[in-house]
Amino acid sequence: MTPALEVVDLVKHFGPVRAVDGVSLRVGSGEVVGLVGESGSGKSTLGRCVTRLVPVTSGEVRINGRDIARLSRRAVRPLRRDFTIVFQDPASSLNPRMTVAEIVAEPLRLHRIGTPSERRERVLDQLDQVGLRPEVARRYPHELSGGQRQRVSLARALVASPSLLVADEPTSALDVSVQASVLNLISRLQAELGFACLFITHDLAAVEFVAQRVAVMYLGKLVEVAEREQLFRAPLHPYTQALLSAAPIPDPVAQRNRQRIVLSGDIPSPVDPPSGCRFHTRCPVAVPRCSVEVPPLRQVAGSLVACHLADGSPQ
Ligand SMILES: Nc1ncnc2c1ncn2[C@@H]1O[C@H](COP(=O)(O)OP(=O)(O)OP(=O)(O)O)[C@@H](O)[C@H]1O
Ligand SMILES: [Mg+2]
Repeated sequence: MTPALEVVDLVKHFGPVRAVDGVSLRVGSGEVVGLVGESGSGKSTLGRCVTRLVPVTSGEVRINGRDIARLSRRAVRPLRRDFTIVFQDPASSLNPRMTVAEIVAEPLRLHRIGTPSERRERVLDQLDQVGLRPEVARRYPHELSGGQRQRVSLARALVASPSLLVADEPTSALDVSVQASVLNLISRLQAELGFACLFITHDLAAVEFVAQRVAVMYLGKLVEVAEREQLFRAPLHPYTQALLSAAPIPDPVAQRNRQRIVLSGDIPSPVDPPSGCRFHTRCPVAVPRCSVEVPPLRQVAGSLVACHLADGSPQ
């Protein structure tokens, strides 16, 4: 089956900044893939390239088999009903001068879907689906709570039934008390509607909750792509191991017995990334070869991992 999203050797440079530097990734139809990595690793840039909010430097972005990377903005426009993005901060992504009804109806209007009365009905259905009452339709974004605003962004993103949703830290800006309810909502809508999703986050617990597969990004490159269970049980890349060891785990005994791997230093600059394996400067197990040879992303024990030392047995 054609994947909903297939990214092939994607590169995005902002002048000297190598934000995304050769990423290949697939999201199957109806699949949720989590994308994790430290701040500055290029996650949002990848999400913005996939949805063509920024032009790509090189590589392919296939949405349902069709490469949109080299199409003009104008040629991309009619295809946009099939892929959408929601951002971390719904306050800045919603037009403050439009009512909720207008905001949610906008994609239907732009893509000329339905008559005005059909659109009104569709908008009310969509608001109901994201857990908002019909009277919210008449309000403006500033009259809503953060959680309600993110529900409006989701309603707008999903109203034209896209086959791919990119969610860039959709819960990180929300109050902790509403994060779980919005995460639950995304997970429930995904199961009901069956759209594919690239779910970008810092939050490993969120990824474990929503994603079937997880891709780990470091300094513009993917270092590991694995099934969720595999990744959380036996991460193969030393960077993934470090990320997981820094995350709190609910089991206090496991928490106490676990060895914590502390990464030294900050993530290096994407203007001048380290030679060989980009992670070698912070890797606790690096050998001389790692600073010379770039490790390709290769199959190891059912996962993809970019590490010279990975042999399938967790280190
Ligand atoms: N418009 C831009 N111009 C120049 N550099 C940029 C631009 N957007 C992003 N970058 C740089 O690209 C790199 C990757 O940034 P990006 O926002 O994609 O990371 P991220 O993984 O999403 O980080 P975070 O977790 O903090 O959101 C960073 O070094 C960033 O400074
Ligand atoms: Mg980001």
